[in-house]
Amino acid sequence: MADLTGKKLLLIIGGGIAAYKVLELIRRLKERGASVRAVMTGAAQRFVTPLSVGALTSERVFTDLFDLNDEREIGHIRLSREADLVVVAPATADLMAKMASGLCNDLASTALMATDKPVLVAPAMNPKMWQHPATARNVRQLKADGIYFVGPEAGEMAESGEAGIGRMAEPAAILAAIEEHLAAIEGKAATQPLKGRRAIVTSGPTHEPIDPVRYIANRSSGKQGQAIAAALAAAGASVTLVTGPVALAAPAGVTTIAVETAEEMLSHVVAALPADIAVMAAAVADWRVAKPAGRKLKKTGKTPPALKLTPNPDILAAVATHANRPELVIGFAAETNDLVKNAKAKLAAKGCDWIIANDVSATSGVAGGVMGADRNRVHLVVAAGADPWPEMRKAEVAARLVARIAEHFGDSRPRRRDEAEAHPS
Ligand code: C5P
Repeated sequence: MADLTGKKLLLIIGGGIAAYKVLELIRRLKERGASVRAVMTGAAQRFVTPLSVGALTSERVFTDLFDLNDEREIGHIRLSREADLVVVAPATADLMAKMASGLCNDLASTALMATDKPVLVAPAMNPKMWQHPATARNVRQLKADGIYFVGPEAGEMAESGEAGIGRMAEPAAILAAIEEHLAAIEGKAATQPLKGRRAIVTSGPTHEPIDPVRYIANRSSGKQGQAIAAALAAAGASVTLVTGPVALAAPAGVTTIAVETAEEMLSHVVAALPADIAVMAAAVADWRVAKPAGRKLKKTGKTPPALKLTPNPDILAAVATHANRPELVIGFAAETNDLVKNAKAKLAAKGCDWIIANDVSATSGVAGGVMGADRNRVHLVVAAGADPWPEMRKAEVAARLVARIAEHFGDSRPRRRDEAEAHPS
């Protein structure tokens, strides 16, 4: 017997003779430890009473959209969203037609429209009604909308003595389908811990023009930043990557905005706010040419042109102090000496929560150096300390960082900024 402890089901009971079988389904769900809240349509209450349903669920039964007490205590939005899975049984032709066309004139249909959770329907109706082109059309629509089905089965109809397809699936079959969907949901939640979170990632170098053909740049390849954007997306986050010029293909499943200069990068990052997470991995040029020449500079005379530089905006600091500051702001620090000390100072100066510090000195020990390479050796630095990570591929650094981010957001306790500790993982 599967253990469904902690699983929450919203059971929407439609008006059909098969409603009596739902009592058995509730009993089996409760035996397995699931919590079941039931919504009954008006017609359902003609077949089974809210009293029997409530006795089996050990919860109050919800019946009326306009019951102010219900709205005040819980409301149809919460009712439909607090469940892990919504089950409609029996799903009548009428209820399915409403679902297919988005009608909501009672609590059952409104909860079905308001839910953001997977919905499993167990249709039950007369075979002629099941075969009707209107029902067939609605079933196609519901399947296209991502609604799951269990049954109906072939057999004798309870009410009419007619036979054909239309009998509601047996409680054991509905239970098996519920268990299967709950397991799939759990699997997905485990692999997508950042679902519903928004992330902004900067990556790559910036190019600061000197004249129309020359620019100031650096050796950043964008590999680490793109690996982080891809890992955040794989964890379910919706990711905007703002990247300077790189030779890499845009990662799949990420909204990628290509920019050239620091100023362009800043304006796209700010436009992408609000977000929950900001990972600023770009190697932004610290200075730009104050007045880039409109024409190519010529070799006139013996003296090379003097380039007057001006500071670029600090994108990381701007995000960390923005009114819409993401909950978690992560910066990078490439250092050649005093790695942790410098990273800690940067943490405070920039107002970010974590710094990924990497040693870009020739003696870092990473074969081939860090810039442009596939491997990296970093420290995760937070106010309370530094956590040295072993040398690994940039994709692994990204996966490990995203796991730490997911851990941060998995903790429902509101955090203060200085509270994230460095603990070895
Ligand atoms: O100031 P420094 O370049 O050492 O700091 C590195 C961190 O700051 C990186 O996360 C980098 O993306 C970010 N940064 C920025 N805008 C700048 C300079 C650095 O976002 N103008």
